Amino acid sequence: MAYLELKNIRKSYFLGKEEFPVLKGIDLNFDLGDFVSILGESGGGKSTLMNIIGGLDRNFSGEVLVKGKLLDHKQEKELDRYRRETIGYRPCLGL
Ligand SMILES: Nc1ncnc2c1ncn2[C@@H]1O[C@H](COP(=O)(O)OP(=O)(O)OP(=O)(O)O)[C@@H](O)[C@H]1O
Ligand SMILES: [Mg+2]
Repeated sequence: MAYLELKNIRKSYFLGKEEFPVLKGIDLNFDLGDFVSILGESGGGKSTLMNIIGGLDRNFSGEVLVKGKLLDHKQEKELDRYRRETIGYRPCLGL
């Protein structure tokens, strides 16, 4: 079992009623200690995906599992705990 699993992650932005799909069914697994780069063209959806992984964006479909347990993005406290204890960002000082 992977430490962090993304299953069929989908997200669109809307301009009025027009849908702009950004993430179209992302499946990814991360093991503890993995060193991973997410590469893609500008506007490809990297930041959108990171916001979902980081528990900052709840408005998407699909599943995020941590150690096999479904993270419920509707549960504010659960998400707070996830951000506090499990996931974090630090600025990239290179590049
Ligand atoms: N809040 C928003 N409202 C509407 N559209 C958005 C919003 N945020 C991002 N988008 C659109 O979603 C798409 C993906 O954007 P995103 O910022 O995730 O790409 P990115 O891969 O991080 O790009 P970059 O390499 O420039 O940082 C782009 O077409 C962008 O214009
Ligand atoms: Mg970005």
